[in-house]
Amino acid sequence: MLQMAGRMRVLGTETAFEVLARANALAAEGRSIINLGIGQPDFPTPEHIVEAGRKALADGHHGYTPANGVPQLRAAVAADLFRRHRIEVSPNLVLVVPGGKVTMFFAILMFGEQGAEILYPNPGFPIYESVIRFSGATPVPIPLHESAGFSFNAEEVLDRISPRTRLLIINSPANPTGGVVPRQELDRLVLGLERHPQVVVLSDEIYGEILYDGAVHVSLLGYPSIRDRLILLDGWSKTYAMTGWRLGYGVWPKALFGHAERLAINCHSCVNAAAQFAGIAALTGPRDPVRRMVAAFAERREMIVAALDGLPGFRCARPGGAFYTFPNITGTGCEVRTLQAGLLEKAGVATIAGTSFGEYGDGYLRFSYAASSEAIAEAIERIRQFVEKLPLK
Ligand SMILES: Cc1ncc(COP(=O)(O)O)c(C=O)c1O
Repeated sequence: MLQMAGRMRVLGTETAFEVLARANALAAEGRSIINLGIGQPDFPTPEHIVEAGRKALADGHHGYTPANGVPQLRAAVAADLFRRHRIEVSPNLVLVVPGGKVTMFFAILMFGEQGAEILYPNPGFPIYESVIRFSGATPVPIPLHESAGFSFNAEEVLDRISPRTRLLIINSPANPTGGVVPRQELDRLVLGLERHPQVVVLSDEIYGEILYDGAVHVSLLGYPSIRDRLILLDGWSKTYAMTGWRLGYGVWPKALFGHAERLAINCHSCVNAAAQFAGIAALTGPRDPVRRMVAAFAERREMIVAALDGLPGFRCARPGGAFYTFPNITGTGCEVRTLQAGLLEKAGVATIAGTSFGEYGDGYLRFSYAASSEAIAEAIERIRQFVEKLPLK
């Protein structure tokens, strides 16, 4: 009797939330579960940020704010982008939204419709493909290559552009692979995009401050030739361990900003005020908590990559950023979903099958190392015992 819109049939999901629910259910039954499936820092939000949120509430910031965000926050975002990249961004082009996902949702809805094509990384954050389908557009996967540190190849991306291509989604550093696209590859991509002026670029840089080996993040904001068609997606969730505050932002081209703001007004009116004041404290306060968190991730990365690479049937590339690693498990002879389920149900270790991130994720498992070194070491031992019993190919 209930007649839902057809688009509801094609809406996907993020398996991480399902795995989390199953892991919690097993833990509630008294099972010992180590969760290496979840994509959020295992650190609390730094205290000075929490305090700013508390103070905002005590000071009476209880009402609506401007739809695009409080002016001090938008100015702080512009100053932060200048600090990080030496790039001038007008605060008037910053749209503060409830989490990184919202910029993605708006950009895809703005350009996706039947007959349109949208390019997205595969394996990639699952919401890209899900929302592209929801919008009616055709998702066109860009393969990422393990042999290239899970970067794309610029020629391969450009070859997939057709007259129907409206939007190209890039994500570096990346979920689920931890891959970082080298500067030369971005240079070649942007040069090629000059031949396709109709293509808007959505650059998801939410892991831009979680990089290793002294690497410097290359923002697509730094390429003047595409600046008038570049949407930057960033936010506080990962860098400041603020996933539950729901705070993110987009930097939109002038021609698109008003449309994005109108989507915001139709959707959520504004972001909750206290979270916005906390966001100002995050951007303008001490940077030590971020440095300490990234240093901890760097240590764990060394440990988990070596340990996974030493497991029978596993081959683990070294991720350049984020807090994920994406080992190739084809040598175990096990299908990835079966392995994910076995590891959770029998070994008590939550991971995510690569296929949850798209067809090219087949043969891989995603591990998040946003967990203590002790938990990671124990998880590896459990996995070793589990895979040693598998009949290896
Ligand atoms: C690549 C990528 N983009 C965006 C997001 C969404 O972030 P938020 O929690 O701020 O919506 C995530 C979260 O996992 C992510 O991995």
